[in-house]
Amino acid sequence: MKRVTLSGIFSRMMSAQPLVTLAVDIGGTGLKMLCLDAEGKALTERLRVPTPDPPTPGRLLAGLDTLRAKMPAFDRVSVGYPGVIKRGVVLTAANLNPRWIGFPLQSALQKRWKKPVRVANDAAVQGYGAISGRGVEMIITLGTGMGSALYTDGRLCPGLELGHHPWLKKTYEDYLGLRGLKKYGKKKWNKLLRKAVAQTAATFNWDHLYLGGGNTKLVTLQFRPNVTIVSNLDGLLGGVALWRDESQDQPVAGRP
Ligand code: BGC
Repeated sequence: MKRVTLSGIFSRMMSAQPLVTLAVDIGGTGLKMLCLDAEGKALTERLRVPTPDPPTPGRLLAGLDTLRAKMPAFDRVSVGYPGVIKRGVVLTAANLNPRWIGFPLQSALQKRWKKPVRVANDAAVQGYGAISGRGVEMIITLGTGMGSALYTDGRLCPGLELGHHPWLKKTYEDYLGLRGLKKYGKKKWNKLLRKAVAQTAATFNWDHLYLGGGNTKLVTLQFRPNVTIVSNLDGLLGGVALWRDESQDQPVAGRP
């Protein structure tokens, strides 16, 4: 006879219900939120407030509370954070505040909102919303910082931080993040982007590259069909996929 386990009953109950995921994107300039249905389709409008200054954990979580108060009921939460996350804890905060380093974002939000929470790198979440799940796929996000994530057949290889990798005379992010855009101007920034795309093709041999993030609206380059610009909304739409990929370096809700 098949053994019936409590976790089996729990997961069947969960899959029978229309799960609502609250998707959160923490950015260097804006905090964004919307609710998604079980298939990852938007159920609400995307709400945004500016990232508080200074963006300390306390002030930023208070900003998230403000947005959350405007959202309908939800069952679980997915968060895209602009830095390295391991087991729900923040390890880097290049474009936020140093007080984030070591902050247990996942458990803090879980306690605050009393719902299961998963936290991952923002570019990784954005990529989940864009990829096809076939072959080697990469996303590069162009916003305040430069995000990057790599997938093979839909599974994330967590922890890639290409933005801080040395390139030319500085790092990729120095040239292609907001500081680089301001320093070099749109025309030169586009030339640098073309070079960077060619460099990543030679380094990672991706089958498909996605470019995301707010500053893609300034891209004037023409690419081959296996390089596509994706909508900024994907930053949040990937929130449901984050709960599907068990290769995530995240504790699964309900597991000790
Ligand atoms: C961070 C990345 C992040 C990117 C975009 C970079 O500075 O190191 O982890 O994905 O900015 O927010």
